[in-house]
Amino acid sequence: MQSEKTILCIGAGYVGGPTMAVIADKCPDYKVIVADINPKRIEAWKTDDLPIYEPGLLDVVKRARGRNLFFTTDVFSAIEEAAIIFVSVNTPTKTFGSGAGRASDLQYWEKTARDIIEHSKDNKIVVEKSTLPVRTAEAMSRILRSNDKGLKFEVLSNPEFLAEGTAIADLDNPDRVLVGAMQTETGMAALQKVVEIYARWVPKEKIITTNVWSSELTKLVSNAMLAQRISSVNSISAFCEKTDANIREVSKAVSMDSRIGSKFLNASVGFGGSCFKKDILNLVYLCEHYNLPEVAQYWEQVVKMNEYQERRFAKRVVENMFNTVAGKKIAVFGFAFKADTGDTRESPAIYVTELLAEEKANIAIYDPKAIENAKEDLAHLTSATIEYCNDPYQAAEGAHAILILTEWKEFKEYDYKKIYSKMNKPAFIFDGRNILNTKELYELGFNVFSIGQTPLTHL
Ligand code: UDX
Ligand code: ADP
Repeated sequence: MQSEKTILCIGAGYVGGPTMAVIADKCPDYKVIVADINPKRIEAWKTDDLPIYEPGLLDVVKRARGRNLFFTTDVFSAIEEAAIIFVSVNTPTKTFGSGAGRASDLQYWEKTARDIIEHSKDNKIVVEKSTLPVRTAEAMSRILRSNDKGLKFEVLSNPEFLAEGTAIADLDNPDRVLVGAMQTETGMAALQKVVEIYARWVPKEKIITTNVWSSELTKLVSNAMLAQRISSVNSISAFCEKTDANIREVSKAVSMDSRIGSKFLNASVGFGGSCFKKDILNLVYLCEHYNLPEVAQYWEQVVKMNEYQERRFAKRVVENMFNTVAGKKIAVFGFAFKADTGDTRESPAIYVTELLAEEKANIAIYDPKAIENAKEDLAHLTSATIEYCNDPYQAAEGAHAILILTEWKEFKEYDYKKIYSKMNKPAFIFDGRNILNTKELYELGFNVFSIGQTPLTHL
């Protein structure tokens, strides 16, 4: 039987899991069910070894699990019971057919909509949390309206802005919560019910309500603009490497203009993650669809610049190691797409490793949280020599070069004197995140290459 105080989230991934854990924690009078078709994932959510690594998440889960937070593979019973259903299933970029490589693959979303129709006995509010192209809510409404049971489904958009690695802090104290609804009486009533949940801990002035289209578009634009800042600074890092300008100095001085601000201006080997590229390509696809080719090209360039940056980094490694890495051991420090997560989706480390494997390097990878994902990502490189290490010192032993590909804090704290003594000489460090003390490493004997800075070499 349906209960007004039961919330369901379909999809127990990086978004659904943490978001629902925080809602359950903050709203003990609601029953929160998280359902997923992947039994391995659901079992892991029931243990202390959660399926995703996120600082602070286990504490939140432990406070609510078994009390008002439940994990299940029984999606259908949970649909029947919940009055509000958040949908947080995956929406990868299409790999086939019309819009391949750009548009979102909505098959999981549509399947979910059909499951909701089939297993509902009462009217429900359906909230889209996955990143979806603009106007999807309308398409979903149409599917849900097509039910022949006389049921009414109100579709809302409530995009998630959490970043991995800081998900709990982002959910606890969001910059804003955005809820979009159809501008109808029933739409506004449904919107109020979702706003009430967030209002338990988010100040009212930070809860923004809009129409559905604005809400959906805001998610794409926020990610596009964040990624654009990184591509902008990365493009200038290429310029710096040709001159004596230093990207860290330029970026710091630029960021002190309060109109520009300091966030998302760190030059890097490139941005990764499941959202940036996918959302921009979605925006590009939509612009093309609405016959706005100039706008589409403008945003597509952000993705192209990122690919250029990844390629440039890998080429710089090969060129500076005397144009060959064949048979040389290369230690890769960091495989996650950013620090404090085990997630490797779209990680620049994947591309860089593939290129080095093509060049026949022997690769040794160390990452504190992402080794299992790295193994899956690189499983297709069957003829490459790749070693997965539990210890960075072991990865670097006998290596000709170390590549820093994730900004894990621990990489700054290693004993590089000890590491240097066990490496092949000349020893190289390519810091793809600009986190190391280049001068100190140079003085230890390393040849140091950072992004957008003059190399420090003994050669
Ligand atoms: C992003 C958005 O920040 C978040 O609001 C949205 O909900 C999901 O997408 P996420 O992908 O988890 O979050 O990580 P984010 O911190 O944005 O970093 C994305 C990538 O950009 C990472 O690879 C990161 O290392 C890189 N990055 C970030 C830089 O290269 N330089 C920077 O200055 C900042
Ligand atoms: P995100 O980063 O957006 O959270 P994830 O890939 O981490 O994406 O999570 C999406 C989850 O949705 C996966 O665990 C997947 O098994 C689940 N999923 C996909 N389709 C369905 C479905 N029809 N019913 C239930 N869960 C689904």
